[in-house]
Amino acid sequence: MTTNSIEIAKQVLDNNDVVSIPTETVYGLAGNVFSENAITKIFTLKKRPLNNPLIVHIQSKEYLNRVVKNVPQIALKLADSFWPGPLTLLLQKQDAIPDNVTAGLSTVGVRVPNHPITLELLKNLDYPIAAPSANPFNRISPTSSKHVATYFGDELTCILEGGECEKGVESTIIGFNNANQPILFRHGAISIAQIEKVAGKVIVETILKEQPVAPGMHSKHYAPKTKIIMTNDLEGSIQRNNKQKIGLITFKESKFKERVFHCEVLSKSGDFNEASRNFYLALHRLDELGLTLIIAEEMPKVDLGLTLNDRLMRATK
Ligand code: TXA
Ligand code: MG
Repeated sequence: MTTNSIEIAKQVLDNNDVVSIPTETVYGLAGNVFSENAITKIFTLKKRPLNNPLIVHIQSKEYLNRVVKNVPQIALKLADSFWPGPLTLLLQKQDAIPDNVTAGLSTVGVRVPNHPITLELLKNLDYPIAAPSANPFNRISPTSSKHVATYFGDELTCILEGGECEKGVESTIIGFNNANQPILFRHGAISIAQIEKVAGKVIVETILKEQPVAPGMHSKHYAPKTKIIMTNDLEGSIQRNNKQKIGLITFKESKFKERVFHCEVLSKSGDFNEASRNFYLALHRLDELGLTLIIAEEMPKVDLGLTLNDRLMRATK
């Protein structure tokens, strides 16, 4: 059931069940952090390996100490700059945060989402909620309630309607080393350059690995059902695959548009925020067209182009 009612969503959560919540990044599958039943259901619905931890969502920075301890100054500075917003901080968890949420790790990912409906919901709850993106494991993340409903149907008791997600890609994940230097664990809706303006040099730890050193660094992810390749030679790729029914993803307006079955231009004017907002929407749309191949243009290697290239790289693995 999709609802506009925060009250109904609260009742479902209070009942140890799962609700899909809108956030500014992507839709989440949320449950009470302290409810074993809800957390188990999240993993089951997503078919997610149990060693992949969940992000905890809180209503405000003031709530942080109930979830984590020994918070470095630099983390508080980042929270001040970016919360509510698409920044997840990996911090030392309080003992009260159950192991099934953090997959047994001593750290927990935490963020204050910037969506008015979900913030209102959180203010009405007396517990934080754990929420991964509301897609089955490895599939394209959902940026509308319709995407979530298509994935889960009647298996999901409640979807809280919140419109299309404003950012369209997941939060940026930042952890800290022993010297309290920021480490990038996942590219996201906040660029490295924005983080560095506040926190100084960021160490990048997101290199693709077959055997992830930390959960969440799985190389294959965010994948459409249709075969997808990424290239910086659109002309050659289209030529080589001229027998295929091709869908194209380009960053800006492109002259290759006419040469394929369908083209998704992420941002006509080449605006990174607009391109990010359209990214998963475009992948969902292309996956519905009965294509035999999706060709994605490599994005400019700056700003949120780094985030989009990261997602494309994992989708094409
Ligand atoms: O934008 C977002 O962050 C969305 C919305 C719903 O808030 N959530 C989201 O959650 O993207 P999820 O579960 O799809 O991705 C979270 C990633 C996972 O890859 C997980 O492995 C990693 O964060 N993660 C969570 N806690 C971690 C920890 N303590 N250490 C290392 N990685 C962690
Ligand atoms: Mg996810």
